[in-house]
Amino acid sequence: MNKQFPDGFLWGGAVAANQVEGAYLTDGKGLSTSDLQPQGVFGPVQERTEGDFGVKDVAIDFYHRYPEDMKLFAEMGFTVLRTSIAWTRIFPQGDELQPNEAGLAFYDRLFDEMAKYGITPLVTLSHYEMPYGIVKKHGGWGSRDTIGFFENYARTVFTRYKNKVKHWLTFNEINMSLHAPFTGVGLPEDSSKQAIYQAIHHQLVASAKAVKACHEIIPDGKIGNMLLGGMLYPLTCKPADMMETLQQNRDWLFFGDVQVRGAYPAYMKRFFKDRGMEINITAEDKTALKETVDFISFSYYMTGCVTTDEEQNIKARANILNMVPNPHLQSSEWGWQIDPIGLRFLMNELYDRYQKPLFIVENGLGARDKVEADGSINDDYRIEYINDHLVQVREAIEDGVEVMGYTSWGPIDLVSASKAEFSKRYGYIYVDRDDQGNGTLERRRKKSFFWYKEVIGSHGAAL
Ligand code: BG6
Repeated sequence: MNKQFPDGFLWGGAVAANQVEGAYLTDGKGLSTSDLQPQGVFGPVQERTEGDFGVKDVAIDFYHRYPEDMKLFAEMGFTVLRTSIAWTRIFPQGDELQPNEAGLAFYDRLFDEMAKYGITPLVTLSHYEMPYGIVKKHGGWGSRDTIGFFENYARTVFTRYKNKVKHWLTFNEINMSLHAPFTGVGLPEDSSKQAIYQAIHHQLVASAKAVKACHEIIPDGKIGNMLLGGMLYPLTCKPADMMETLQQNRDWLFFGDVQVRGAYPAYMKRFFKDRGMEINITAEDKTALKETVDFISFSYYMTGCVTTDEEQNIKARANILNMVPNPHLQSSEWGWQIDPIGLRFLMNELYDRYQKPLFIVENGLGARDKVEADGSINDDYRIEYINDHLVQVREAIEDGVEVMGYTSWGPIDLVSASKAEFSKRYGYIYVDRDDQGNGTLERRRKKSFFWYKEVIGSHGAAL
């Protein structure tokens, strides 16, 4: 039997404002936290005034070139495109009462362009950036006031785009704050765990308030959370490794537990107690958290291992989350371990835990591409990666998991998040730009472009 993807399954790709748009001060945009990290989310935070600062300032100039890009996405048959709104285009400093009309108008044009091709927008409210003004003046998510600023922003965009955008996400990879506090919650990297968890709490309350606002303003809309699906396996079956793995998976599942179940899970009581932390959670916060998401979205790139054996616990920063490598898996050039079955495993785990529809909103292979003399780009490695993962998505669907869609990361080459590089490419569409910012920005179809088009056109039968 030729297994199929369900009717209505959405196929497409995912990008984020700060990695594609460029135009970092155009039409009244304010500086975001991302604008202050020219070397990526793990790089230093640098104050800036004006002038060229790095590749992100122009990125792939999506701000001006989106009509051309949308045409290419439509040619591949996309039925969904995930992107984010840059909060600083709408509220340049973050704490204004009135929005910036020029910023709102840009996203009107962008969503209208998607509508032209019948591409459903899936919009993240905050993808790895927030107004730097909020960080400077208010201390980022460390301040309770930021909940109100975010709610005002969310209500503004829901009201403006309620007839154009029906699918929303609150915070991209909300659990990343534990690894990159400046990017996640606008706090210095050396902040105490107590300060980070308090800021995370404020963000979780804000996320729930955005869910409530979306339900009020767009009754036929759907809003989800977004987790970095960092599934960990025990390195051995030693009971101590099993227990440690359970604990470490809770580090990220905690976010989903709050956003999907509407309250702090029981295990966090001991977590805070053991570490001498006290988080200020008011009665009003508890009520707010009860507004839960409609679906769960997540990114999936790799899995890692957990061990209680100190000697084996050699960690490689290269794979973002400092995970212990799995001896049974191959890695990408950037040390990210490739594990298609892990995606099926993760999907089953999430569905067993929450029984809510899932949306895979990031997955892909960052790799160096070579443009041949005839102009072709033969990225068979990317085709193999995406193919193998989609086969496992189909298996998960057969397992009974409800899945809304799949948006692979960076369908067009963009600036990487972790190190702000161009050489780490994810796209089906090549963009002529290098790590120093040289290049014409010309777009070019890779071999994977034609492959993905066939997959979408056959509704997955071509896998
Ligand atoms: C996710 C982020 O962590 O992974 C994206 O949501 C990011 O913004 C993607 O680009 C891939 O990471 P990188 O560092 O290869 O760009």
